[in-house]
Amino acid sequence: MGGITLKQVRKSFGDIDVIPGVDLEIKDGEFVVFVGPSGCGKSTLLRVIAGLEDVTSGQITIDGQDMTDAAPAKRGLAMVFQSYALYPHMTVRKNIAFPLKMARMDPAEQDRRVNHAANILNLTDYLDRRPGQLSGGQRQRVAIGRAIVREPSAFLFDEPLSNLDAALRVNMRVEISELHKKLATTMIYVTHDQVEAMTMADKIVVLRAGKVEQVGGPLELYHKPANRFVAGFIGSPNMNFLEGEVAARMGAHAIGVRPEHFSMSTSQGLLSGVVGVAEHLGSDTFLHVDLDNGPHIIARAAGEMPVNHGDRIWLTPQEGRVYRFDAKGLAL
Ligand SMILES: Nc1ncnc2c1ncn2[C@@H]1O[C@H](COP(=O)(O)OP(=O)(O)O)[C@@H](O)[C@H]1O
Ligand SMILES: [Mg+2]
Repeated sequence: MGGITLKQVRKSFGDIDVIPGVDLEIKDGEFVVFVGPSGCGKSTLLRVIAGLEDVTSGQITIDGQDMTDAAPAKRGLAMVFQSYALYPHMTVRKNIAFPLKMARMDPAEQDRRVNHAANILNLTDYLDRRPGQLSGGQRQRVAIGRAIVREPSAFLFDEPLSNLDAALRVNMRVEISELHKKLATTMIYVTHDQVEAMTMADKIVVLRAGKVEQVGGPLELYHKPANRFVAGFIGSPNMNFLEGEVAARMGAHAIGVRPEHFSMSTSQGLLSGVVGVAEHLGSDTFLHVDLDNGPHIIARAAGEMPVNHGDRIWLTPQEGRVYRFDAKGLAL
């Protein structure tokens, strides 16, 4: 069990309101990602849930019980940080068993849990090594193992993959998703990386300056962003925004078109511009285009496209793929 509810949770440091007031419902077994730019309050919100920070006001319930003022150890949650915080002089087995030893658990039960976690994480062959003899990904798995053995009602991850190189991050992303499927335990995962959010989450919570901008499934946010901030944050490369005459003609202050939603032609179309950089990846072609009297935009074509620097190109947003925003940035 691991349902978590936040009611008007507020957190300030001195007179700075970092979290002005968040309402959120996390269902048992859900994989929820908090995503937003650096400094928007993701870690603070997670630490408040974990009990590592007091709330300024509001209520936190876990499995229906009021845990607002409960000590971290009483909440049944396990946190995994970006820095693995492993003990270098202890073996992997001892590192994973550490929280159980602290809790004076029966040694046979400790062994059972450590072996089970090692099995899930493919660490069985490494139990007698020390952290210094492991790769970065393996160390992160040990840190996750130390959380698993506690059998928490929810896992809290704070940017756990930030220290890993790009290829390893992709592997670990998949491993954590698989782990969630195996354990079926609630996970709250904090990241500034919208690709991690899109690929891992059942439910994404987009935060900006401590406020929830939108909550929804990955494709819900992609297809129906509530405002310009979410529209620009979700999707890679970012959505292009156009203001002025084109937007006015479509009855909006601004319009947004994702790079993948332009039809491209070398002879005709709605918008015209000159290609600055053409990125030929084989699988995709990304064109950085300076529109005539307009902004610099990025358009993406699937596959190969024989267009290069200096070429003129016409772009037409695809039918039904134009997002419209009012002057306040709200989706129309
Ligand atoms: N202990 C603290 N005292 C004062 N300000 C803090 C403290 N912890 C975080 N903050 C401020 O709260 C804001 C959100 O920080 P944080 O939650 O770490 O953001 P994120 O994890 O999204 O990058 C930042 O402006 C940060 O400087
Ligand atoms: Mg943080």
